[in-house]
Amino acid sequence: MSAAGLDVRHFTHADLPEIRQTLIDVHADAYANAMDDEFNQRFSWFVDHWGGNPEFSCVIAFDGDKAVGFAYGAPASPGREWWREYLDPAPEKDLTFAYSELAVIPEWRKQGLAERLTRTLMAGRDEVLAVLLVDTEHPRVQALYESWGFRKVGERQPFPDSPLFAVMLAELPLPS
Ligand SMILES: CC(C)(COP(=O)(O)OP(=O)(O)OC[C@H]1O[C@@H](n2cnc3c(N)ncnc32)[C@H](O)[C@@H]1OP(=O)(O)O)[C@@H](O)C(=O)NCCC(=O)NCCS
Repeated sequence: MSAAGLDVRHFTHADLPEIRQTLIDVHADAYANAMDDEFNQRFSWFVDHWGGNPEFSCVIAFDGDKAVGFAYGAPASPGREWWREYLDPAPEKDLTFAYSELAVIPEWRKQGLAERLTRTLMAGRDEVLAVLLVDTEHPRVQALYESWGFRKVGERQPFPDSPLFAVMLAELPLPS
């Protein structure tokens, strides 16, 4: 089956109890070779943090009953968007979606699923901008986001134990 044949479903804050473990399991599989990193081990905290936002939005791809990838985020807090300190002047229209996490299990990579999840998550949103953070040591992932319309606007390290991230910004809707 191709990624186009997978069932991609939307979830919200109210669904967190139902999807929490699924997100943790897919993340553990997607980051299996990087789970010795303490930052990655704190993922369940991030799931609760983001999922606890009443405006949390998540998409999960299913192959039958098995979750094989997900993407999630939530509206950014006005004035505290990740791009804010790097753009002067700020964009005139600045309502921003913070794209927090994307993961696809190894068996489903290189088939366009990450793009489908990203586009499904962003489709029909009210925000005019989307911002994300990507590890500066993962230039191939950064290139993937560039291919969907994101551009790097700065670098930040939000936590002492987190990687140094590239801050990437795109206008919504994403260019097709
Ligand atoms: C990022 C991801 C969803 C992309 O899936 P995809 O569209 O099927 O694309 P690929 O898996 O082929 O990844 C694209 C490129 O990024 C590289 N890459 C992906 N994840 C990476 C990671 N965690 N660290 C370093 N490089 C990574 C791949 O090796 C690939 O490089 P290549 O083009 O030279 O072969 C998937 O690779 C994944 O789940 N990775 C682990 C989690 C992750 O890094 N998420 C992104 C957080 S910003």
